[in-house]
Amino acid sequence: MRIVVASDHAGVELRKEIAAEAAELGHEVVDLGPEPGEAIDYPVNGERVGRLVAAGQFDRGLLVCGTGVGISIAANKVPGIRAVVCSEPYSAVMSRAHNDANVLAMGARVVGIGLGRQITREWLTTEFEGGRHARRVELITAIEGSSS
Ligand code: RB5
Repeated sequence: MRIVVASDHAGVELRKEIAAEAAELGHEVVDLGPEPGEAIDYPVNGERVGRLVAAGQFDRGLLVCGTGVGISIAANKVPGIRAVVCSEPYSAVMSRAHNDANVLAMGARVVGIGLGRQITREWLTTEFEGGRHARRVELITAIEGSSS
């Protein structure tokens, strides 16, 4: 798969680790940064990754900020994005199997390197089950086109 990776300044170290994990699994990885010492607000890279995945330029996105929360909220504002913030593998697996999540976010102040790599590995290797779950994902998509 083609995978785009980005973080804010709080997520640089974990982002580089999970980008390496994805590459070690054989994926084509594009890392949008930032580099250490460079400050970037999490909504900027959350939106960038969301737009690239929603446009089909990448199959999946990986995001890191301090908690994973802000950057996942930003990504989820992009229509077509189902971003999940995970701090343990079970939710990561289920977000793929049942929700067809296309962006994974993690918190660099929440998970360590080993756990972050494991969550990434399990998320990238779990297929969407489809079936009754596809209908539910379609219901989520329908919300995007509805007005309040
Ligand atoms: C930055 O300090 C921090 O607020 C950000 O990385 C993230 O945790 C926001 O959700």
